Amino acid sequence: MDHVIVNDVGPRDGLQNDSTLVAPEDRVRLINSLLEAGIKSIEAASFVSPKAVPKMADADQVFAALDQEAADFSALVPNVKGYELAKKAGARSVAVVLSATETMNQKNINMSLDETISVCKDIVGMAKNDGVRPRSYISVAMECPYEGLVEESLIESLSATMFEAGAQEVIIADTIGAANPAQVKSLFNRLVSEFGATKLSGHFHDTRAMALANTWQALECGIRKFDASIAGLGGCPFAPGASGNLATEDLVLMLNDAGFDTGIDLEKLLKSVALTRQLVGHSVGGRSMAYLTRGVVNQ
Ligand code: COA
Ligand code: ZN
Repeated sequence: MDHVIVNDVGPRDGLQNDSTLVAPEDRVRLINSLLEAGIKSIEAASFVSPKAVPKMADADQVFAALDQEAADFSALVPNVKGYELAKKAGARSVAVVLSATETMNQKNINMSLDETISVCKDIVGMAKNDGVRPRSYISVAMECPYEGLVEESLIESLSATMFEAGAQEVIIADTIGAANPAQVKSLFNRLVSEFGATKLSGHFHDTRAMALANTWQALECGIRKFDASIAGLGGCPFAPGASGNLATEDLVLMLNDAGFDTGIDLEKLLKSVALTRQLVGHSVGGRSMAYLTRGVVNQ
């Protein structure tokens, strides 16, 4: 069976943007429940300024509590300080954040596009030397909330820059959920023919209910790794209009149903959704929740 890696970014992309502050020990509980469901790839936290993103404070405590052998845990790092902190906390994989436009970099990490490229290359180089696995986001890869549509040629050249610097994976992120499947087809076909499918992954937000359609299109282009967020939590505090990520349960339902091997147990994943709801204290869940919980509702 065709294997697809589901990388749950809920503990980072999800919780960074929720109104509730979730304590590090509870973030660890959530991560452990994702592991229980069979998820083997998780973005566990970000090492960012707690003034900029208070919900990600104490990322070191999250990493200290993880069994690094249990899964491929990654940490998002925006600058060298974040990288050093992540390394010290035991992170074996880091993701740098390169937004495709000038304004998005300014708003998100207070750096110009050129500065961001340079910092991301430096971090990737340091990680390579340290035996830490470097990955790179290319954020707002289809559309930027400040600058509008993004040229495919720019995404291709930024991806090339990060691969040349030593990134082992480039994550193409539709940060505000503005992409449609035709754009995804065109961009991913171009990137796959240039870099190959195995080093690329897709990160879609479900703002306009197109995340699954975009995922399917990227699958058709050969992509076999996708980000998703448990219970559809998520959004970027610095990208107006960005709403939740593709919900992990929606993604797993589609992949399992369509005959892909994810290794993930949907019943157990529903326990993670329930735990997420308990931790954030409000209603959460992907678009398929009414279907997935129909047995429960009817009893
Ligand atoms: N982790 C923790 N603290 C950090 C840090 C990091 N990676 N980088 C900087 N800081 C601290 C500095 O020590 C300084 O603290 P002080 O005020 O107590 O002296 C403060 O943050 C400001 O540092 P500075 O280097 O001037 O950063 P800045 O104000 O220009 O902000 C970032 C730049 C990158 C630190 C900040 O914009 C940020 O953390 N952004 C993350 C955005 C994000 O997570 N977006 C969503 C995911 S894409
Ligand atoms: Zn995102």
